[in-house]
Amino acid sequence: MTQFNFSTANLSRYPAKHAKDLQAWDAADEYLAKFISDQANILILNDAFGGINCAVHASASNPLHVNDSWCSLKAIEINSNHKPQAYEGQKIDLGLIKLPKSISLLEAQLKHVCNQLDKPLEVYFSGMQKHVSSGHLDLLKQLCSDLQYLPTERKARMYKGMLEPAKHQIQTSCLPVPELNLTLHNAAGVFAEQKIDIGSRFFIENFKLLPCAKTVADVGCGNGLLSLAYHQLHPNAALTLTDESLAAVESARSSFAFNFPNATYQLAHNDGLFGCEQIFDLILINPPFHQQNTVTTDIAMSMFSQAKACMGPASELWIVANRHLNYQADLKRWFRNVLVATQNDKFVIIRAKR
Ligand SMILES: C[S@@+](CC[C@H](N)C(=O)[O-])C[C@H]1O[C@@H](n2cnc3c(N)ncnc32)[C@H](O)[C@@H]1O
Repeated sequence: MTQFNFSTANLSRYPAKHAKDLQAWDAADEYLAKFISDQANILILNDAFGGINCAVHASASNPLHVNDSWCSLKAIEINSNHKPQAYEGQKIDLGLIKLPKSISLLEAQLKHVCNQLDKPLEVYFSGMQKHVSSGHLDLLKQLCSDLQYLPTERKARMYKGMLEPAKHQIQTSCLPVPELNLTLHNAAGVFAEQKIDIGSRFFIENFKLLPCAKTVADVGCGNGLLSLAYHQLHPNAALTLTDESLAAVESARSSFAFNFPNATYQLAHNDGLFGCEQIFDLILINPPFHQQNTVTTDIAMSMFSQAKACMGPASELWIVANRHLNYQADLKRWFRNVLVATQNDKFVIIRAKR
């Protein structure tokens, strides 16, 4: 079988506007593609921008996907011109698995696959060595038989094993927040799964500064903490929560159901406010500073520009961020009125208006 050439395939990242030095595939994707067999029904986990998917398509088969990320699924669609097909227990003979940063996400994904299997599945796991830890390996040893280490190629690790059928429980974890009288219900892999982020905590401590809004968007909502805290202060606000991580959407839904079952809110698995036509009185963002394993402010910039499109003259965007990121300067590209509402030695809370 001829090898798929990643560098001539015109693969693009999603969002498409990003730092020029970032590319849409890495050596681990290329290494995984070497194990594609045109005879097999292939399952791909965590394809970042569709490179592995395109390599499988080039061998004339249609892979199935397990993927937490809306942006990755969109990239797969754009790069291959096909909507990615979700794995729902269909027959599979081979797994190509990109190791995600979150070991708990990987555990939940692998257990989901194991639960559907009726015989062991041949799987290849790869990731760049700087992102693969002993925790990843411990998990693979736990769920696979016959685990083998293949030689590292261009700093990409590779493991081969047989994923064993089993009936695993996939649990969410509960994180009490006594100072707010809330309990967060976290799905595996959600942001701040074990502990509240200190930036979010600082933001919430200053929520008394926020206006009393009728409509509020919480962009990159994670487990819904900011919306839950806003709802406590302003129970009549109509909330819209979005996150590109499915684990986040599930966590926010469970956290609202547990804490405020009667709250009015909408929840979307989406790239920020992409495609949203509503104007909000207030938009809240604790922006991510990485996309998967890559440190980048690209997503934050994309969120700010999407936010502007959903704001009227009286709307307010409030963000919390690490001081050193100096987002005030970036926000001035889109907003005329940008001010620091408050700050401490680590974080800054910024208000922006059109
Ligand atoms: C710093 S966390 C903040 C989470 C939550 N708002 C909090 O304060 O605890 C950033 C969140 O943005 C989400 N995210 C990253 N890229 C995104 C995108 N393109 N669209 C929507 N959400 C995104 C991440 O999944 C993560 O939940």
